[in-house]
Amino acid sequence: ALALLAPRDLEGMRIAISAGGTREPIDPVRYLGNRSSGRQGVALAAEAAVRGAEVTLVAANVAGDVLAEAQHPSIRILQAGTAAELGRVMADAAASADAVVMAAAVADYRPLEVADRKLTKDAGGIASIELVENEDIVAGLVRTRRDGQVVVGFAAETPGAEGDQDELLARARRKQKRKGVDLLVVNEVGWERGFEKGHNAVMMIGSDGDVVSTASGSKREVAAAVLDALRPLWTAIRN
Ligand code: CTP
Ligand code: CA
Repeated sequence: ALALLAPRDLEGMRIAISAGGTREPIDPVRYLGNRSSGRQGVALAAEAAVRGAEVTLVAANVAGDVLAEAQHPSIRILQAGTAAELGRVMADAAASADAVVMAAAVADYRPLEVADRKLTKDAGGIASIELVENEDIVAGLVRTRRDGQVVVGFAAETPGAEGDQDELLARARRKQKRKGVDLLVVNEVGWERGFEKGHNAVMMIGSDGDVVSTASGSKREVAAAVLDALRPLWTAIRN
């Protein structure tokens, strides 16, 4: 019944959303990863679909029970494991999208070499791993975007020393500018908040660096607020 009451205010929007976190292989049994569960990206996909959008959800290592929340006839789910894969799949999905949301946590680095057999202690172990930087996917999507396409980024930030919020905001503004996204959704994280939790608190920074909106609540409520901020930026693009 709730779904019937939801406004279909995103009818006609084609949106590509990434969720989860990439894993960069070290050897066949190990990887470099992060703590992103994919819940926020999945909540965005579910909320967008209920509001009438056509969604491509690109899932990076999202657990099955989390992904189950994205079961909807208007959601197409694609998988990507590593940052390189995510970059390719998102570029593909973005080519036919009005809006792109990079909610996935992308590994900043990957091992330079991936061992094709398990590294063992007696063969020297893995006391150090040489890393190379991954490409900035969202910055690339902004550079190659279609006219009128809206690009949204996410940032999980820890506050400065003694909980300095101004420093957090300044850092987030620099990040918005560096990436060129139309909207940067910033959430404060620490060991006890943000990750793997049912709820979230965010502020959204627009293309001129202003805080255009804040929201807190369940990840679904935050998703709704992000889509509310995105909607006025959206203009339907014809193929
Ligand atoms: N992002 C991306 N490609 C990367 C790294 C990040 O597309 N290689 C995207 C994320 O999906 C997110 C946004 O950029 O939407 C911000 O990610 P974040 O990790 O906060 O930014 P970084 O530029 O990696 O900065 P930091 O050094 O703070 O990690
Ligand atoms: Ca990063």
